[in-house]
Amino acid sequence: MTDSTTGDMTGSTTTVLAEPLTLPCGAVLANRIAKAGMSEQLATRAGIPTVGLRRLYATWARSGAGLLITGNVMINRDGLVEPRNAILDNTRTLPAFTGWADAAHAKGTAVWMQINHPGRVATVPFTRRPVAPSATREPVPGYNLRTPRELTAQRIQALIRDFARTAELAVAAGFDGIQIHAAHGFLLSQFLSPLANTRDDHYGRTPAGRRRALLETVTAVREAVGPAVPVSVKLNSKDFQYGGLSETESLDVAAALADAGIDLLEITGGNYAEPAMEGVHHTRHQGPYFADYATKVRQRINVPLMLTGGLRTRPTMERLVTEGAIDLVGIARPMAFVPDYPAHILTGEPEPLLPMALGPTGYRPLDGYVQLAAHNHQFHRIATGHTPQTRAGLGTVLMAVGKLTTAAAGQAVLPRSRS
Ligand SMILES: Cc1cc2nc3c(=O)[nH]c(=O)nc-3n(C[C@H](O)[C@H](O)[C@H](O)COP(=O)(O)O)c2cc1C
Repeated sequence: MTDSTTGDMTGSTTTVLAEPLTLPCGAVLANRIAKAGMSEQLATRAGIPTVGLRRLYATWARSGAGLLITGNVMINRDGLVEPRNAILDNTRTLPAFTGWADAAHAKGTAVWMQINHPGRVATVPFTRRPVAPSATREPVPGYNLRTPRELTAQRIQALIRDFARTAELAVAAGFDGIQIHAAHGFLLSQFLSPLANTRDDHYGRTPAGRRRALLETVTAVREAVGPAVPVSVKLNSKDFQYGGLSETESLDVAAALADAGIDLLEITGGNYAEPAMEGVHHTRHQGPYFADYATKVRQRINVPLMLTGGLRTRPTMERLVTEGAIDLVGIARPMAFVPDYPAHILTGEPEPLLPMALGPTGYRPLDGYVQLAAHNHQFHRIATGHTPQTRAGLGTVLMAVGKLTTAAAGQAVLPRSRS
């Protein structure tokens, strides 16, 4: 069978996806496939990487991907995105992070740390309120119980310094690059959203004001890591919410990020209320999810682009790269059930079958959560020396959701240690 985009025979090992990619900072990625960030929830309660996390990345080191982007690592102890997130805010825990980077490097793959702050969707002790650009609640059950505290301009600048400090520590620990998480409704994404950011000062009010926190973060991170270390941003193509970040405004953000000198823009979309990144706005076999936006942003900026969401088959990946729409293919969920999914793609074998975690319930926030739980469950299996499941039905989902909820309760008090 001939692949219409490359003329290659399916099964051939010659593919545009195997070509290296040179980034503006000079760093070179070995090929065009990246594992996108997925929260592992495999740190201790104090945010220190565990042996299990190292085992998971030792597995992914052999995945064939040219780049591994970690799940989100917290920049401080304000609150977690999920229980058992890694937290990198001091030098004392650095050796454990070095162990993590070393495990991921076993086969020479590049490893970038994704850094994040949850803002108003933080898991925090019940006595504390999360912080956010404005005192506006997240419209999702659970999160809508607590009104966040509006950040002062001074506190925003302190958080930007925290992003920079974590980036510097990550490089000191041995990570090859940094990705700033500005998508999926977390703090920097909240700043970009007119729904979540109703501030009246220079960190809000206008599109330029709403993107100021992100741009200042990029500048601070760049200063912290220097010109030779890749700095990437993960950005929503839009929020999929009426009144949220629009595609037009997102394109302007992308242009400003290009001017700020980022090395890679990863494209995604959605948040907890509208988890478009997990495909809930698409039918089962539709994908990739945000390719139209990729084409539009490509016409605006000259920065390497990574597209993540629903990319599963080699012909589609090759077409997008060959047409020049994107430079790097992001793969997330397949890596949970088939940890060497990229190797299958690169060698041209038929794409491995992937178990689907239950069909849609029709309530999108729940569907997004089920996706997270069922895939996260596989990380915990790999971390404890088991193989991923070949089927993920109701039993798996109930068990995984139960485990995550128990972990959230167990994390009700955040250790406050700092060096
Ligand atoms: C278990 C799980 C955890 C995730 N954690 C993160 C994360 O920490 N950071 C991030 O940017 N995206 C995260 N995502 C979203 C993925 O990176 C990706 O954008 C999404 O799953 C769509 O890509 P896919 O269709 O290849 O899975 C997570 C997804 C899953 C399933």
